[in-house]
Amino acid sequence: MDDEQNWLDQEPEVARTLPSKYFYDDAIFEQEKQRIFLNGWQFAGHKSELSQPGQFVVTELFEQSLITACDNDGNVHAFHNVCQHRGNRLVSERRGQNNGLFRCAYHSWCYGNNGKLRGAPRSERMKDFSKDAVSCPAVKVEMFFGFYFINLDPDAPAMRTLFPGAEEAIRNTYPDFDDLKLIVEQDVIVPANWKVIMDNSIEGYHFKLSGDCHIDLAKLINFDKYQLITNEKWWTYGAPSNLDAKDPYGVPLTEEPDPNDQFFNIGLWPNNTFYHFPFSKFFATFIMIPLGPEESLLRFGYYSIHDPLPEVTTASMRWMDEALGPEDIDLNISVQKGLRSMGYDQGRYMIDEERSNESEHLVHHFHKLVYRALHNA
Ligand code: FES
Ligand SMILES: [Fe+2]
Repeated sequence: MDDEQNWLDQEPEVARTLPSKYFYDDAIFEQEKQRIFLNGWQFAGHKSELSQPGQFVVTELFEQSLITACDNDGNVHAFHNVCQHRGNRLVSERRGQNNGLFRCAYHSWCYGNNGKLRGAPRSERMKDFSKDAVSCPAVKVEMFFGFYFINLDPDAPAMRTLFPGAEEAIRNTYPDFDDLKLIVEQDVIVPANWKVIMDNSIEGYHFKLSGDCHIDLAKLINFDKYQLITNEKWWTYGAPSNLDAKDPYGVPLTEEPDPNDQFFNIGLWPNNTFYHFPFSKFFATFIMIPLGPEESLLRFGYYSIHDPLPEVTTASMRWMDEALGPEDIDLNISVQKGLRSMGYDQGRYMIDEERSNESEHLVHHFHKLVYRALHNA
């Protein structure tokens, strides 16, 4: 059943899952790198992290390290994090603010926040040395719903073209994007393929079946109305909050909940997810960054417009970090082990005709995107 066209042509209701080698094989991982990630949009940071001169964020993708920085005029640039002298990496921290220059710690070549060389000790003594001709190679950068994304492919289509309607969908559920501020960002390394983590997050089948925290989450929402909606390269899943819920995350609600409150998630191909929780006032990133075929970095960034945060918001973040998140991560680790078993290769997507709250149609859709990218199909 690994014949390419046959796999793609399966009727969703009876389809067999992606063969397990897709989740650990070195050659497939290498192809994913080339065909999915080196031409895909990668999350960099929110505009509030790049609005003052000298502010920068660093994004790592496999062997690549990219700086996104704000220059003195407030313009944001992205470029490779590598000194053009002998190749030293310029910055090692994830984010920060400089005084207008990145100084290489090796021989002090200095670069502006647009990646252009500004100074190099002793260069005036060198034959034909033109500072103007030297810069860290630029990378494509775009802002989308208040967040910056970068792309290593200079020909990549704009996000608005790739994800038509996505920005509107997000703004409908969380209108205050432009004023968000980073509360905290945590990276967690998970010994699982990035798709195992994605698959787990894009189905509601396991909600009522897998663990206590999942059952608690199902109670905070109107689970019958949980909907998973596929668009070509982006998808949403979520449900209205259960307005009868008592003490969400163990904290009594002090104000009347907004009747439009929701549990909302949106995925942007290939590995970017943003979400917010019922009754909570954060907006969060959930980015699955592949480190190897069986290892991923999960980037949990929490943003909010509120300072101080309402108690229920703080409690919901803690609950995600200490309860629901670990419950899912344990499942991911266990699945990764199972995928290596000689006793498993392909399973069955549990897709019903109505594409219900417990149907796995979004997993299938996502796997088809992966499959098409890998096989140029
Ligand atoms: S490697 Fe950066 S200044 Fe020499
Ligand atoms: Fe889960």
